Amino acid sequence: MQILGIDVGGTGIKSAIVETATGELLSERHRFATPRPATPEAIAEALRGLLRHHRWSGPVGMGFPAAIQHGVARTAANVDASFIGLPVSGYFSQNTGCRLFAANDADTAGLAEMRFGAGRGHAGVVLIVTIGTGLGTALFSGGQLLPNTELGHLLLENGQEAERYASETVRVTQKLGWEEWGARLNLYLRAMERLLWPDLIVLGGGVSDKLREFAPMLATQAPVVAARFLNRAGIVGAALFAEESLRGRTELSHPAGQSHKRMS
Ligand code: BGC
Repeated sequence: MQILGIDVGGTGIKSAIVETATGELLSERHRFATPRPATPEAIAEALRGLLRHHRWSGPVGMGFPAAIQHGVARTAANVDASFIGLPVSGYFSQNTGCRLFAANDADTAGLAEMRFGAGRGHAGVVLIVTIGTGLGTALFSGGQLLPNTELGHLLLENGQEAERYASETVRVTQKLGWEEWGARLNLYLRAMERLLWPDLIVLGGGVSDKLREFAPMLATQAPVVAARFLNRAGIVGAALFAEESLRGRTELSHPAGQSHKRMS
């Protein structure tokens, strides 16, 4: 199936047309800055421009940087607070004229990595951490997702919120070198490990292709690998999520308790 995948971040909105059978991008990856303030109206307007750019009117999958419980945003750390309580999928479907399915951005990136990427076929506990404006997490066990884990907001042993200490935005704005920032990420991953004992940790987001720069600072027991799709995982996973939703195979987009089927 061909689906437009959109990855909404706190800083940029990335999109491409995806072949869901393979995870391949069928168009160039398009990126533009997230409007400020990132209100529902401003993002809807930006999406209409994006759809014109791709000449697209088919189904759309969206990774969104918030806890999305059955289509409804419950948090808004890096977008406008007016998103809280908004039925994101319904709102953007109405305002773009496309059938649009939204889920948490880290969860969608995780779907891509579990289906086609670094976590493919892994039956154990896999933690995916997406590193961008915020820190996003997706947790899988036996290939099944526990949605909306929001573990980037964990308070570290130094009293700091993880995403305000070790995100990509923090690395860039505080001009941290790989060593210094890598040590910060290590503190976070070690904290995750003590709580969740993953068998594999997959890092996504823009820095994932720089893993060799900061890998020496990481001292987790679980292997740490880069997302195979690097910073495209969110786009690909968003399209996979829309496909699952269209086929009625995911619990994430339905009102609680109406679907009991597996996501993958
Ligand atoms: C949000 C998460 C999101 C992550 C990465 C956090 O601030 O709370 O929902 O997955 O950023 O975008």
